Amino acid sequence: MADEQTLVIIKPDGVQRSLVGEIIGRLERRGLRIVAMELRSISRETAERHYAEHEGKPFYAGLVDYIVSGPAVILVFAGPGAIAVTRSTVGATRPAEAAPGTIRGDLGLTVGRNLIHASDGEESAARERALFFPDGVTSYDRAIDPWILES
Ligand code: RTP
Ligand code: MG
Repeated sequence: MADEQTLVIIKPDGVQRSLVGEIIGRLERRGLRIVAMELRSISRETAERHYAEHEGKPFYAGLVDYIVSGPAVILVFAGPGAIAVTRSTVGATRPAEAAPGTIRGDLGLTVGRNLIHASDGEESAARERALFFPDGVTSYDRAIDPWILES
């Protein structure tokens, strides 16, 4: 499987509910590797660029207000098939429809407070990584990798 890097945002509700460790832990335990991580308040301009595909939709203004409402944790996770693996670990957009065992299915209830964003494809992952981490990410090997990844 191709090595990929995907962008994750623990949204402001995840930070306020003290679920940062819980959410990162689930993705880390899956075997994914953190290659960038930062707590920051996302500017309205960056939020609008990040969610530009949704401009004009009825939920867009509320979505941007939600994302800028407090600090968020922004990460890049790396690993084989990282984009799809992260999306499936996150679960369906609407937490009420997300499968138990997923982050949204275990920890969320409503679509407007669904805790986490994850890139939905190679193109969006590349665009989002450049938007949030223009200086790139940190590459390193983990000693445990031979126990997680087949060579
Ligand atoms: P995300 O981009 O945040 O990872 O979520 P997603 O791919 O699962 O869902 P997407 O369709 O890209 O929607 C982006 C975010 O907009 C909010 N939303 N609200 N009220 C609504 O009907 C509605 N639909 C979407 C959610 O916060 C969703 O994560
Ligand atoms: Mg999306």
